[in-house]
Amino acid sequence: MTYFFYKNKQLHAETTPLAVIAEKFGTPCYVYSKAALVFSFNSFSDAFKKREHLICYAVKANSNLAILNLFAGLGSGFDIVSGGELARVMAARGDSRKVVFSGVGKRVDEMRAALEANILCFNVESESELLRLNEVAGKIGKKAPFGLRINPDVDPRTHPYIATGLKENKFGVDYADALAMYRMAKSLPHLQATAIGCHIGSQLTEVAPFIDALDRILVLLDKLEKAGIAISHIDIGGGLGIRYHDESPPNVSEYASALLAKLGKRQQRILLEPGRALVGQAGVLLTRVEYLKHNRGNNFAIVDAAMNDLQRPALYGAYHDILPINQLSRTRRTYEIAGPVCESADFIGRGRKLGLAEGDLLAILSTGAYGMSMSSNYNSRPRAAEVMVDDDKAILIRRRETVDQLSSGETLLS
Ligand code: LLP
Repeated sequence: MTYFFYKNKQLHAETTPLAVIAEKFGTPCYVYSKAALVFSFNSFSDAFKKREHLICYAVKANSNLAILNLFAGLGSGFDIVSGGELARVMAARGDSRKVVFSGVGKRVDEMRAALEANILCFNVESESELLRLNEVAGKIGKKAPFGLRINPDVDPRTHPYIATGLKENKFGVDYADALAMYRMAKSLPHLQATAIGCHIGSQLTEVAPFIDALDRILVLLDKLEKAGIAISHIDIGGGLGIRYHDESPPNVSEYASALLAKLGKRQQRILLEPGRALVGQAGVLLTRVEYLKHNRGNNFAIVDAAMNDLQRPALYGAYHDILPINQLSRTRRTYEIAGPVCESADFIGRGRKLGLAEGDLLAILSTGAYGMSMSSNYNSRPRAAEVMVDDDKAILIRRRETVDQLSSGETLLS
């Protein structure tokens, strides 16, 4: 299901022409489709409706308040990895009792804020973290609900930078140590074990690694039950991939059926932490061609979006489709689409056959996830605007940053 399509040779988001948005809000500009976001959330929750579950949207994928608020309204919980993300969830009127806190480096102040907000669960990643959580909870007179994030040593067969469930990764606790850690935690007065979970990586395009990981979790769960440690939810993590180019990831219902079959009649509530699968296809990045240049047989289209706006191509060699906003019949050439930043890694796409002229508008597809949320100010470039389309309305959900904002926290020495 796509909410970005051509009508009268003009690319639209729902019923709004993207050219109108570029005109009104400028470029570079992220544009999201509200209907696409609602559709993907509902597909996810429908796929799991046979059993008690909670979708905890992974805030890091796209943390714009309007998006968090939209998901909160649909009943979503949230997977956070910092105090900053917790503050965003609260500002977006998310329910903190539906928040799980993941990540290997939780600071004391972040733990305290999360305890005070009465979050659902801390996904703990080490023994030191367990001890710290016990201490912080004790100081404010609370009992911290936690689950261990297990590192099941399963190969997610994805880009090495986003694989997290292999034993050489920094994430999770060793599968073999988990039972002893739950036992140790039982002796700590300010901790309450409620969960077990894992997150093995991102942009997974097969079901098998999810099932292998769950298999291992279930074996542990049986051991915990035998040891008298009652667990009320299983957190399956996120990671379901999307189609950027020629991948064929399982669809949500295939993914859900496989997991549900494996879970069988177990009583625990299921938590899911999808990020990319909820927002990835719901966003495009609009950019304008500034210059065309031809160096020794190589054609470059220099656009006004760069690696600071969209890091994925530079960081992972990621592929994003690039479409012209206006379909015109022009001679096509093979281009490198590149940004203005002073790095050769600053490309958006390579080997793209397009008929371009200076001033053209382009849409970089599938950029709803890990686009804006990974943007930076490198080269002192203000961050892009963000717009939400709802049918024929285009709402500015984040103003374009100004150059003044960039240095506003800085001081001169004299
Ligand atoms: N839960 C945890 C604990 C995570 O670390 C992540 C993502 C998710 C859930 C959501 O995963 P998703 O469903 O989005 O795959 N910047 C990379 C992706 C990094 C993912 C980090 N963790 C990219 O642009 O591909």
